[in-house]
This record gives sequence, C-alpha cells and structure tokens, in this order.
Amino acid sequence: MSEAQVILELKEAFDRVYGGGDCRIFFAPGRVNLIGEHIDYNGGHVFPCALTLGTYAAVRKRDDRKLRFFSVSFPEAGVIESSLDDLIYKEEDNWANYVKGVIWAFEEHGFKADCGFDFVCVGTIPNKSGLSSSASLEVLTGQILISLYSFGTDQVKNALYGQYAENRFVGMNCGIMDQFASAMGKKDSAIFLNTATLDYQYAPVELGDAKLVIVNSNKPHELTTSAYNDRRRECEEALEDLQKVRDIKALCELTPEEFEKVKDVIRNDVCLRRARHAVTEEARTVKAVQLLDNGDLEGFGKLMNGSHVSLRDDFETSCFETDVLAEEAWAIPGVLGARITGGGFGGCTVNIVKDSAVDNFIETVGKHYTDRTGLTASFYVVSVGGGPREI
Ligand code: GLA
Repeated sequence: MSEAQVILELKEAFDRVYGGGDCRIFFAPGRVNLIGEHIDYNGGHVFPCALTLGTYAAVRKRDDRKLRFFSVSFPEAGVIESSLDDLIYKEEDNWANYVKGVIWAFEEHGFKADCGFDFVCVGTIPNKSGLSSSASLEVLTGQILISLYSFGTDQVKNALYGQYAENRFVGMNCGIMDQFASAMGKKDSAIFLNTATLDYQYAPVELGDAKLVIVNSNKPHELTTSAYNDRRRECEEALEDLQKVRDIKALCELTPEEFEKVKDVIRNDVCLRRARHAVTEEARTVKAVQLLDNGDLEGFGKLMNGSHVSLRDDFETSCFETDVLAEEAWAIPGVLGARITGGGFGGCTVNIVKDSAVDNFIETVGKHYTDRTGLTASFYVVSVGGGPREI
C-alpha cells in the first residue's frame, strides 16, 4: 500500500471514530538490525537502520484531560479511553499502554501535557515480526508530544523516554537500540551506535547491485518478554563472575581473546555461552562496519552469517523456523549474508541478496521453508528510511 493510501485510510478512520474535523498526521519508522544483536544491554555496538515501514497516527488535542486511542491495525480492541490523570499500566488497555507509557515517561522527565488528545494509528510493519512496531509506536508518541505541546527536547531524549516507558511501564527490559534507530533514522544510512556512550555515526548503506530482503517466518512467538528478560539476567550473572577477575563494566569491553583467558570464572555454562555471544558479536559488529566502509559486502555478509550461528548456538534466541530461513538462504548463490534479526524467538531474518538472485531467493527459500515447517514466509525487499516526521 502506498503512503498516500495509508494516510487516506487513517483519516477515514479518524473521521469515523471521532467525527471529522482537523487532525495532524505523524509517522515513525520501525527498524531492522543489520548486525550487533543482543549487545545493546551489554555495552556493545549495534548497527540498525530505520525502515520506510512504520506506524502512522492522526491526532487532535482535546479541551479536557481525556485520552482516546483507536488502532486501524487492531480494530477489535475498539476505542480505548484513558486520561492524563490515569497513566498506569492496565492489561485491558492493550496496545495503548505503549502510548500511555510514553506520555508517563515524558511527565516523569518534566514534560507534562496540559490537555488530552484523540489518537488513531495504523501500522505498516508486519505484526510481531521483530521489526520494532512497539518502538515505532513509542517514538511516534514522543514525536507527537514534542510537536503538539512544543516540548523542548530532542530525538535522542525521545528514544530514551521510549525505552524508559518500555522498561518501567510495559515491563520489557529492552536496550536502547530500537527506539534509537527509529528516532535517529536517516534515509539510506545505518546507525553505528555505541550503546555504552550513545555516541553514533551514520554509515551509508550502499549495497550496489544487491538488496536488503527481510523474511518474516510468521512463526507466532510466545513468551518473548520473559525469555528476553532471562537473557539479560544470564548476561548479568556472567558479568558478575567476570568482574571478580577483570575490572569491566560490561561484557563487550572484553575482546574474544581476553574472554577465552578468563571465561572459566563463569560458573554457569549457559551464562558462559551467553557471554561468549556478546563478546564475539561485538567483535563481528565492529569489523563488519569497517568492511562495509571499505565496500567489502561479501565480508560483511559472512559476519552476518557468523552472527546467526552465534545467536543459534550460544545465545539461543533463534528457533527452528528462523534457522531454516537462514540455512536455506545460505545455500543460494548470490546471497551474501543471512541472519535472524531483532529480539528473536521467531520473527524475521535479514538478508543481503544480489539483484540477480532475488527472484530465485524468494521462490526457493519460500518453497523449502513451507516444505520443512508447514508455514508460509513473507518476503519484503526494503528501503532504509528516515526518522519521525509530521506529514
Ligand atoms: C529487542 C530489544 C532491543 C535489542 C534486541 C536484540 O529488539 O528491544 O533492545 O536488545 O531485541 O538485539
């Protein structure tokens, strides 16, 4: 669907639900992470980029303190009503908890809205795909607050408040990557972000005669939040053991060679493997960005493959379905790299595929995936887009 069609649909829904009148339209993107997985809470570097897919909203200020939310993507949830005086997590508020959480997070940082608003949104990110539809909704809400109430803050803060909402309101203990990638997205660039310092650099995503292809496993993932929070705890446990022999604040401060020398102080074997993923992923990410800078796409792709293997064997956030997608991709000539992307336990793979191989890739991976899993994969040839904006 074109952006114009999405906006039309949004406006129609706004008119239908709230009875017409003026509204303002905003967008914030989802993201795909090229490499640097599960290290944004281990002091590592990540390399995500914003997508042209994301979440759109139409909003209008109200005269009172009421908040009303409706999603075209979840019409069955109906109109969810709340108020600026009731910014607490409620199960029945469903997806609107993300919006409420960001309003609350801005308040916690001194940015208080003086009136409520009516809100309709629609997402173009496939649901539960691991392409950060929730971060895009958070960053979108932040952008709306900044614009509607003239809050004097910036996009880095917008990302941080989104993460604050997700951690403390929704209860998902995520790192900063997703919100940062959405808030700071830049067309045709990936963001090389040091999550320990929030220093960042944009790197052009110049793929020459290749394309970025995202494949959704369409595997319904469950218990993502609890499994994610478990991974974080296991990394923390490994860090505590390592701190007995090394003066480090985060796992990613160690090189793989240093890690090999001290790893036996980690008492639990599962935690040891989690830590080994973090340390090796950091090394792969830094190297991958150098290679991309030198135009070595093949080298970059090999490191993506290495990332997948490490997520599969050491970090265990891949699953049978995403392993099948990666393996099938690796077998196809013209695929430079393929790996699971995002939080995991289902979701998508990200692939770099030569133009001439894209059709064969879609057909062959699609067919073999269905043969082996009984599921149907969805394929998206994606473009790298910019950050949040008013339309
Ligand atoms: C989720 C989290 C991010 C990051 C990724 C894994 O998307 O929200 O903070 O940890 O998983 O890289």
